Amino acid sequence: MGKHVAVVGASGAVGERMIELLQSRRFPLASIRFLASARSAGRWVEFGGEKHPIQELSEKTLLGVDVVLSSTPASISREWSPKAAALGAVVVDNSSAFRMDPEVPLVVPEVNPQDVLKHKGIIANPNCSTIQMVVALKPLHDAARIRRVVVSTYQSVSGAGMKGLHELETQTNASARGQAPPRPSKFAHPILHNCIPQIDDFTPSGYTKEELKMVNETRKIMGDPSIAVCPTCVRVPVPYSHSESILVETERPITPEEAKRLWSDAPGVLVVDDPARFEYPLAAAAAGRDEVFVGRVRQDLDRPNALLFWCVSDNLRKGAATNAVQIAETLLKLTA
Ligand SMILES: NC(=O)c1ccc[n+]([C@@H]2O[C@H](COP(=O)([O-])OP(=O)(O)OC[C@H]3O[C@@H](n4cnc5c(N)ncnc54)[C@H](OP(=O)(O)O)[C@@H]3O)[C@@H](O)[C@H]2O)c1
Repeated sequence: MGKHVAVVGASGAVGERMIELLQSRRFPLASIRFLASARSAGRWVEFGGEKHPIQELSEKTLLGVDVVLSSTPASISREWSPKAAALGAVVVDNSSAFRMDPEVPLVVPEVNPQDVLKHKGIIANPNCSTIQMVVALKPLHDAARIRRVVVSTYQSVSGAGMKGLHELETQTNASARGQAPPRPSKFAHPILHNCIPQIDDFTPSGYTKEELKMVNETRKIMGDPSIAVCPTCVRVPVPYSHSESILVETERPITPEEAKRLWSDAPGVLVVDDPARFEYPLAAAAAGRDEVFVGRVRQDLDRPNALLFWCVSDNLRKGAATNAVQIAETLLKLTA
């Protein structure tokens, strides 16, 4: 039976993808509405061949909704996701607001689908860099038990939403015209021609919040607090898709051949690994796709129980909107 669905944050980078996916995946809909802030109210969204207005998020516009797919800043989610749940909806929330709340399941359907059933009105969608990593790690963990992960990320500007995309675009255009770029506002430094080893604020530990999300969310999703994660998160001047260099230490050694076999049988993962033909996962090729791509698989030169690989996925799709829609689909399937 179709559901009454609201896309909250419909004017945002993740919201836009959400709208595309609800159509392409033929999500069972009884009705759909599009909500955002007062700034966007009155704009129009194309859906199913018809134009729909964006309305302001309010208790009135949330009435009668069964499923909320929310992608707003955490401060807005903190206020509105519990209100939507109290009004009777199940909320899939993309922000960081509830991810580490013990009462809220944090779900990647390829890893812990059954956790959706534990919800009390809100299901959290993990951080984009964490989602793609755990999809790739899960089959290795099941086969050989992961002890430690060392990860460096190369994260696209769309991970910082519409404003991140806009900042790279304006700096690129200014540079092409030979003009001085406007001062950065979304990132701490100019992102054009640069790599910025800071995503989100620093914590007293010396790690950024983004890096600690990768540590804590990985353990919660994998259901194993013993997994050690050592992250460095870097913003790079790429519009879409996050890339990650991952070293994984396992209790039992895994060869690259075994890892590729495990990934070939795993849901959501595609192995692209033919270096002789220059074939490996690339950010530009992953943009607009839903899979997590892995390649450059190789053994650590000194440690038999350590494996390295390169992992790429579209942060707005599997890293956000696709995972959120899959969570809603999983819930419908398991409660049908
Ligand atoms: N970008 C990614 O790769 C990614 C991945 C995973 C998770 N997330 C998370 O998803 C959320 C959205 O990210 P994004 O990249 O889509 O950001 P974005 O492009 O900045 O979009 C933010 C959305 O939130 C809406 N919003 C802001 N203030 C609001 C308010 N007071 N009331 C109602 N709606 C409001 C905005 O509406 P207006 O346009 O009207 O302001 C817009 O639709 C964030 O929590 C982010 O951390 C993002």
